Amino acid sequence: MVDRPEDQFGLLRERLQRLPFALSVSDMDQPDHPLIFVNDAFKHMTGYGDEMLGLNCRFLQGDLENDRARAEIRNALETDRRVQVVLHNRRKSGEEFYNMLLLERLQSPEMGVSIAVGSQFDLGAEIDDTPQDSSTSGVASRARQNAVAISLERRRVMADAAIRMIKSWFILNAVTDQS
Ligand code: FNR
Repeated sequence: MVDRPEDQFGLLRERLQRLPFALSVSDMDQPDHPLIFVNDAFKHMTGYGDEMLGLNCRFLQGDLENDRARAEIRNALETDRRVQVVLHNRRKSGEEFYNMLLLERLQSPEMGVSIAVGSQFDLGAEIDDTPQDSSTSGVASRARQNAVAISLERRRVMADAAIRMIKSWFILNAVTDQS
């Protein structure tokens, strides 16, 4: 028996909800692109719950300056390019953290529907943006940087898989609706 698309999304939604990394989806057809889905890992990261739904995710920036990253995001969303940026965010508790966001817009012109899928990675309260220089950084610090780089790469691969999964569902839905 073949599932109807909405049942498939129900199942997909359940799986996405419980993934060990943050995922969020915004409706790009509505004014100011409100969040329409946030999973448990993202709720855990930010401290917010379903009250995030209906808001543009920029509320996490609060009073913090993110001009460059925001311009990059706007540009990528307009031109349908995948983007990866680091944003300075605040949790519900008020605590600041750096948030690495991987974002991609998915459009289905046939259906006239467009969503954006974001996956967030918590970089903690400080980011190490000192250039890698073996003469100045110690072995321990370089080992730590390597560990962070590996964990980021692993994370990127997982987020990529999740975005592809949503993309497949999205395309499948568009095809099914047309037939
Ligand atoms: C975002 N944005 C976002 N911003 C942020 O500070 N933290 C986050 O976790 C996220 N997550 C996120 C997920 C999804 C799916 C989308 C579409 C966007 C970015 C934010 O909503 C907004 O696009 C940027 O701030 C750029 O637009 P403005 O603020 O310059 O209008």
